[in-house]
Amino acid sequence: MVSTANDGGRAYGHQPGSSDPELTEVGAGTPAGELLRRYWHPVARSEEATSRPRNVRALGEDLVLYRNLQGAPGLMLPKCCHRGTTLYFGKVEDQGIRCPYHGWLFAEDGRCLDQPCEPGRGRNRESYRQPWYPVVEYNGLVFAYLGPADKQPVFPRYDIFEGLDPDTEEIVIIDHFAFGGPTQAECNWFQTHENAMDPYHVFILHNAISGPQFDPKLEIWPRIDWQRSELGVTATQDRDLPDGTTLHRVTETRLPTMRVIPTPTLSVLGKTNNLSWALPIDDTNTRVYAMVRKPKDRPPQGLPVYGGGKSWFDLTDDEHQLYPGDYETQTGQGPITLHTQEHLCSSDRGVSMVRRQFKDQVRRVVDGLDPAGVRFDQAGELQTIIAGNYIVDGSTDINTIPLAETLGRPAE
Ligand code: FES
Ligand SMILES: [Fe+2]
Repeated sequence: MVSTANDGGRAYGHQPGSSDPELTEVGAGTPAGELLRRYWHPVARSEEATSRPRNVRALGEDLVLYRNLQGAPGLMLPKCCHRGTTLYFGKVEDQGIRCPYHGWLFAEDGRCLDQPCEPGRGRNRESYRQPWYPVVEYNGLVFAYLGPADKQPVFPRYDIFEGLDPDTEEIVIIDHFAFGGPTQAECNWFQTHENAMDPYHVFILHNAISGPQFDPKLEIWPRIDWQRSELGVTATQDRDLPDGTTLHRVTETRLPTMRVIPTPTLSVLGKTNNLSWALPIDDTNTRVYAMVRKPKDRPPQGLPVYGGGKSWFDLTDDEHQLYPGDYETQTGQGPITLHTQEHLCSSDRGVSMVRRQFKDQVRRVVDGLDPAGVRFDQAGELQTIIAGNYIVDGSTDINTIPLAETLGRPAE
């Protein structure tokens, strides 16, 4: 709330304000939740899908994840369609999961394969279906589509993970909420998502206040611009380096929850070697999955340092206050930030663009249209990433850099 002229801006009578449901709600039936349900989302690491059922929560839905003994992952509502006990206690078999109560066996697509207490082991069993969701495994993550069957898009792949040399390279999953933070955080997913289009905080939070947490080159004040594309919003930050070259850093958001943030420690130059997804667990809890391509003989990427050399996990409570990072500031906005209390300024243009683009897509779905970025034909499967840390000189046309660069290479 903007204070009136005659109260001197005092806190007395301050109203808490409200958040924008078109950005923050993730549940089924909400406008934003229905938009999210038009895309694939990572719901677990592949290694978390095992013969032991696991409870997972995604987009506000409680689900059970397992992997049948033939290796296929399954994701379904926990409540058995017979008499409602949870499949969390189920027994995983070759062809699916068997309910512990009366033994109904369900395949990954929900079909009932066996009803041992019924005559003929269920002569009518094919008329029962356990509510299920389709899943796809990609580079160590289990993705699920929680939307309407007739709107299921093809599963997208990304160029930065193509052509892997299995002898020398590997793809790993890092599920820190923010660089160096815990696995998940108690805040709405959009708070961490829009952060990717907030390059000014890199200079302030990660350098002037708590830093340097990243590569010292990021202390140089950049020229910043943003561009909106069909698939998302891009931020470019150009820093003139002492040797006459320019660090041209490009970050991206992609609909609906992807963020492409080249390693801020500059341990990889060129096109990014990683991208990440924010999984909205529910309205006030978020998990982040980063997919990282790397040489087998190197660590994933340099994580930021805190307090002059510690990892986030080594900090005491006092040090978390002294050296805040992304986790502290994004959860510090509260469980769901109060948009009516904000004062967005010119430096928040990228944040505004991400929000506007997301809300545009929410409205498209409300109007019965398909949102941007979903494809229903195989041709749409492979997406090209442009984010990266590019070192360029004066003769380089920076607009051609993302397309001209090869896959991210380790810095010298
Ligand atoms: S409750 Fe699942 S088989 Fe009866
Ligand atoms: Fe940050």
